[in-house]
Amino acid sequence: MASIRWKILLAFFLIVGISFFVAATSLTGLVSQYLFDQRKRDDSLKTEKLAIDAAYYFQSVSANELNELLEDHAATMDGRLMLIDNDGKIQYDTFQTLCGQRVQVDEVLRVLAGEKEAYNIHSPGKAIVEAMSGERGAEYVAYSAREIEGYQGRIGVALYVGRVQKLMDSLKSVRVQLLSIFAMIAVAALVVALILSRILTNPITAVSRTMRKMGKGDLSVRVPVRGSGELRELAENYNTMAAQLESLDKSRNQFVSNASHELKTPLATMKILLESMIYQPDMPEEVRVDFMKDMNHEIDRLTGIVTDLLVLTRLDNKEDMKRDCVDMSELTLETIRMLTPAAEQNHQVISEDVEGGLYLYGDRSKLNQIIYNLMDNAIKYTPEEGTISVSLREEDGDIVWRVKDNGVGIPKEDQEHIFERFYRVDKARGRDTGGTGLGLSIVKQMVKMHGGSISVHSEPGKGSEFVVTFPQEGETP
Ligand SMILES: Nc1ncnc2c1ncn2[C@@H]1O[C@H](COP(=O)(O)OP(=O)(O)OP(=O)(O)O)[C@@H](O)[C@H]1O
Ligand SMILES: [Mg+2]
Repeated sequence: MASIRWKILLAFFLIVGISFFVAATSLTGLVSQYLFDQRKRDDSLKTEKLAIDAAYYFQSVSANELNELLEDHAATMDGRLMLIDNDGKIQYDTFQTLCGQRVQVDEVLRVLAGEKEAYNIHSPGKAIVEAMSGERGAEYVAYSAREIEGYQGRIGVALYVGRVQKLMDSLKSVRVQLLSIFAMIAVAALVVALILSRILTNPITAVSRTMRKMGKGDLSVRVPVRGSGELRELAENYNTMAAQLESLDKSRNQFVSNASHELKTPLATMKILLESMIYQPDMPEEVRVDFMKDMNHEIDRLTGIVTDLLVLTRLDNKEDMKRDCVDMSELTLETIRMLTPAAEQNHQVISEDVEGGLYLYGDRSKLNQIIYNLMDNAIKYTPEEGTISVSLREEDGDIVWRVKDNGVGIPKEDQEHIFERFYRVDKARGRDTGGTGLGLSIVKQMVKMHGGSISVHSEPGKGSEFVVTFPQEGETP
């Protein structure tokens, strides 16, 4: 299984295992080296002392004294002692078994060949001369050979065959102890690695599980946010993304349901009117004409809604904006001219304050739609005899539109919602005046596309003012 969890586990285990193994081996090496060196120093010193003590008697060939000397030394040295002459023949042996014989002990041969001393440890079975009688080959033994110096140079070799089994045993037990500690640490490392890998991978597994659920269509699932650092950030970011997706999905559903509802109303009205006309063939002519006018009005409304919906979807798709140098002064005056008849019909007055020669780099038809929708609202939501004032000015380098009316106004709690799609303050009245609640959301989107901002100041009963500000430079594309 190549999952991240197993990789973490393996990596952790390998790192801890290898480092401990290296540490343990070098520690054992150092300890053995130290103990060996100490032993070698001890043995060499003892052999040297023996060689010096034996030199006198060996030269004078006083066998009894020599034997006594050897016995004394052997008692303190815990081993076998031998004296060998320059021909390699054993002259004295504390075990008495090899006197007069030649033995091929490498250390002795090396001293005979000219070295001052020679030392080596032999593993069981490799030793030629046993350290204890009758136990040959069963133990580790150390050979420490040293020349015996007479007045005219070397007169023989002293050989000390020492028992090093204890040393080897304690080394072995050190090794065994280290090995068992190593095994314990390895098991502990494995357990820690297991726990650690679980802690590390749990959040990732949670994200993956949630993603799978979301992929199946449940947009409400979230990842539990735990711990700290990158994994917490991952969970948080994922949840933010999921929330965004969910809200997008909701608003899309809302949009579709609102749109269908808005389309259904005029259709239902038209159906009632049509059915009345079908089932009342003898309907008076004026009533029939009225019905037909109403139907025409409903068709206009339908067309209006469909047009607005199309505009909105195009804006959603971020369809290419045309960019031109637009004469804002001219555009404003043109829109005022276009809407004057509608205002006059309501006996409203439009007052204008348009600064000349103001240009903006943008999409002419969209800019036109912005001011048109705002003025259309002002006219629609202002009672007869009201005043609508439109101004275009340059303020602090920005181009600013203000559309003000002394109409019905907008309650505070509705002000933050009026830019949402299909939002109408007074649902019933909105329908009378033919509003769908799309106008301001289109305006907001288009203002945003020009890098501008829109705000509203309004008091119910007193009127409203919409302010659109375009920065002249640095519009977002
Ligand atoms: N100048 C205004 N005075 C009072 N209320 C307003 C004004 N402008 C907008 N509103 C309120 O904000 C709501 C949303 O306006 P918006 O222009 O988006 O929709 P609408 O005018 O109802 O319909 P549409 O513009 O799509 O035909 C309106 O229904 C209205 O209640
Ligand atoms: Mg409107």
